[in-house]
Amino acid sequence: MKDVYILAIESSCDETAASVVKNGREVLSNVISSQIPIHQKFGGVVPEVASRKHVENIASVVEMALSEAGVKKEDLTLVAVTHGPGLVGALLVGLQFAKGYAFSLGIPLLGVNHIEGHIAANYIQYKNLTPPFVSLVVSGGHTFVVHVEDYDKFTVMGETRDDAAGEAFDKVARALGLGYPGGPKIDAAAKKGDPYAITFPKARFHEDTLDFSFSGLKSAVLNYLNSERQKGNDIHVENVAASFQRAVVSVLVENAMKTIETKHLDKIAVAGGVASNSSLREELKKRGEEKGVEILFPEMILCTDNAAMIGSAAYFQYIKGKRSDNSLNAVPGLSL
Ligand code: KG4
Ligand code: ZN
Repeated sequence: MKDVYILAIESSCDETAASVVKNGREVLSNVISSQIPIHQKFGGVVPEVASRKHVENIASVVEMALSEAGVKKEDLTLVAVTHGPGLVGALLVGLQFAKGYAFSLGIPLLGVNHIEGHIAANYIQYKNLTPPFVSLVVSGGHTFVVHVEDYDKFTVMGETRDDAAGEAFDKVARALGLGYPGGPKIDAAAKKGDPYAITFPKARFHEDTLDFSFSGLKSAVLNYLNSERQKGNDIHVENVAASFQRAVVSVLVENAMKTIETKHLDKIAVAGGVASNSSLREELKKRGEEKGVEILFPEMILCTDNAAMIGSAAYFQYIKGKRSDNSLNAVPGLSL
């Protein structure tokens, strides 16, 4: 088969990203223009600001991705773009740009599910990885344990009933005055704290499901902080961070391992921004070694939002004949 060069575009949240991916697993360029410093002063992503910044940046990010890859526009096979889930205004910027680009070059367009993209980051990292496996998808907007039966066949085994794991990290970090995005700040603070200092409830929905619930845990942390402050006690930020993180990580590990047992599989591929969490990496690896389960993590740059993962997910659909047409729309609540 001829080599497949995919230009992938990602603009679902606060990163404007473009990448050229060859044959689904080889990243020729991976350009990410982060808006984090802009949103930091608001303590979170402001959707209207995100859309405007995408408009400003997208053309140059795409040009950079092509020039870094050393690939001419005429050599592209396909334009892939995230069409959901995400912020509607942000998604529309990438989508409209991708449509125009594909049309002007006379090549096909393919809409990609952002969550499938996060999972596909593992195909880039692990060149021999093939389904089936279990994926733990933990990002700012999503928390899923998924049975990946094939490149395009997913069964959600458990999901959050309220906040996403990353969202809980961000909200607790804000309450601790650590700033945005909270995940990396809590991760760093927790390294200096005692994870057993405070007992917070587990982030579980129910004993007998694989679903998660993070809002109860988040409220428990906020209540703890309020009550300590009312008593005039100093807050030991590192201990709170470490104890909160332990509660999140333990349920993520537990549900992923339970899914492995249920499905009789031997690989867990972790995905999404929270996959960079050092405690999650350590705990899963430890449990994996005990149980003979291989634990896979993409490198950090492929965990948080990027376009290379979208290019990889698109490839496996493209070779099965999937294409989108010009009616492709943004679907903010797109599910797996
Ligand atoms: O996947 P991602 O870049 O964007 C979404 O699709 O949501 O994930 C961003 C999330 C944020 O909530 C951020 O706080 C979290 O990932 N995150 C982390 C770490 N690095 C990023 N959470 C915990 N520990 C980290 N080291
Ligand atoms: Zn994401």
